[in-house]
Amino acid sequence: MYYSEDIVEEVRSRNDIVDVISGYIGLKKKGASYFGLCPFHNEKSPSFSVSREKQMYYCFGCGAGGNVFTFVMEYENFTFPETLKILADRAGMELPEVELSESEKKEADYKAVLREMNRQAANYFYLLLHSERGKSAYEYLTNRGITKEMIKKFGLGYADIYSNDLYQYLKSKGYTDAQLKDSGLVNIDEKRGGSDKFWNRVMFPILDTNSKVIGFGGRVMGDGNPKYLNSKETAVFDKSRNLFGLNLARTSRKSYFIVCEGYMDVITMHQAGFTNTVASLGTAFTPQHGNLLKRYVKEVILAYDSDEAGTKAALRAIPILKESGLSVRILNLKPYKDPDEFIKELGSEQLEERIGQAVSSFMFEISVLEGQYNQNDPESWTLFTHELAKKLATISERLERQNYLDACARTYQLNKRDLEELVNRYGMTASQYQKEARDKERERRVEKDNKDDGYRQSQRLLLTWMVNEPRLFERLEGIIGVDDFIEPSYHSVAAMLFEQYEKEKKVMPAKILNQFTEVEEHNQVASIFNTMLKMAPSEEDNEKALTDVVKRVKEYRINYEMEHSNDIILWQKLIRDKAELQKLHISLHFS
Ligand code: UTP
Ligand code: MN
Repeated sequence: MYYSEDIVEEVRSRNDIVDVISGYIGLKKKGASYFGLCPFHNEKSPSFSVSREKQMYYCFGCGAGGNVFTFVMEYENFTFPETLKILADRAGMELPEVELSESEKKEADYKAVLREMNRQAANYFYLLLHSERGKSAYEYLTNRGITKEMIKKFGLGYADIYSNDLYQYLKSKGYTDAQLKDSGLVNIDEKRGGSDKFWNRVMFPILDTNSKVIGFGGRVMGDGNPKYLNSKETAVFDKSRNLFGLNLARTSRKSYFIVCEGYMDVITMHQAGFTNTVASLGTAFTPQHGNLLKRYVKEVILAYDSDEAGTKAALRAIPILKESGLSVRILNLKPYKDPDEFIKELGSEQLEERIGQAVSSFMFEISVLEGQYNQNDPESWTLFTHELAKKLATISERLERQNYLDACARTYQLNKRDLEELVNRYGMTASQYQKEARDKERERRVEKDNKDDGYRQSQRLLLTWMVNEPRLFERLEGIIGVDDFIEPSYHSVAAMLFEQYEKEKKVMPAKILNQFTEVEEHNQVASIFNTMLKMAPSEEDNEKALTDVVKRVKEYRINYEMEHSNDIILWQKLIRDKAELQKLHISLHFS
């Protein structure tokens, strides 16, 4: 998406910075500037200043600063286009429509319909929850300690006992069966017609980061199977890219997020003041989830269930989160099952304390490992010590390794010297070995890439030579043919050029371009034809340069054939050809 500088400037000038920031934090006038508590760091006395004259903000405490766009982007975690849109709306401006292709428009419209249907459904469920029909559901939620405020904040609802009333409702709004089917909210049966996917369940709307409803989770009230039913994935609902509660946690202004397993956990956590809590949607954690979180925070605290399943899920999530560049700590909820239960039993202050005690993912992994061994059995404990040393040895940074070593020795009452010696022993094998293997692999890849690039480049260069000096077609006869151009795109261009030259004794590049339909192909082919060869001042040097290119192209062809054949006779011939190549000299002297 691209908007002209004029439009961007107009949006900025129509949003006075003092007015906009006043909508987020309290500001007091002091001299020529306004002051408030900085939303970007923790402070007790105001060092955040906003200047109407300069239309800028600056924090003397943490150095945050910028214009109205910067502020909204930072505060809301919006992208620039999102910020521009919000501020344009605020100023009552309409942004020019973005030019979309026919298919892009169709796709966008289709998605808009799906989102609108989900929004209508959420409204409907919400109204039902607050009606006579939703009384038991409302009671279920309040019995579980959820406040009215949270019901509103999360837009909770109720799908009632009739098997097709959402279907009827959405039909009455004008949606077709085909659209309804794609929404994932109803099932369409050819004979029996439409029926609702969710019935007699408490409904949890799932919102994307722009606070648009994209799907639902629905819980049975009491016992029943399945406990939760979730919307199927649709064009707008991708479980691996969305997190429950992220639309709210996004603006919590905390440096970390708490990730838990369930819908109820998120709601209870928000209610208890932990507004930086999210949950994955009944699926395993994905790299996309990791990247999504990384947009907002640097650290994640996992608050998974304290049972075996939760521990396993945490062990799987840790490497994924770390791969996204997040640091990970693990919350210990024992003896309670999940955050929801913990808060009910011990309250938010105790949870806050546990957050302070949350251990690093490394220490967590070690404690899980330790659980598999027995400290009172010398044999078992020795095995544990070895496993621990192996893991410590994989930490490549020396200081970090030493710190963890100290911590482990302390926690598991091991002799530091002994542990260190073991780690060093494994260090040579484990981490060193891994590092060496990685380095080798990287070297091999770079070498291969260079080689590939080299042969592509040589083929390209030779084509450029031939187009610029068509008499080379005759001069290279018997030396270079179409099949020496192994790279597929050059091969087809070469085939056309050779054919033209054979028929017309000249080459016509523009005609060749007609054969290609894609813009990229045009660019690529045009670059072959329009490259200027760097000619050396002496013919001798030019001949040497050309000869080298021809040699390289031939060499690659020979290597290619060797790689693709087991024929011993052919091999012998190829080896001879290769030796012959050394004698090659191409003259550029035409009489
Ligand atoms: P839990 O079984 O731990 O549920 O599943 P919970 O969140 O603690 O719910 P309550 O407190 O019993 O009401 C954790 C999450 O796994 C998904 C849901 O997202 C749920 O919140 N889940 C669980 C399903 O998708 N389907 C199920 O049948 C069960
Ligand atoms: Mn629970």
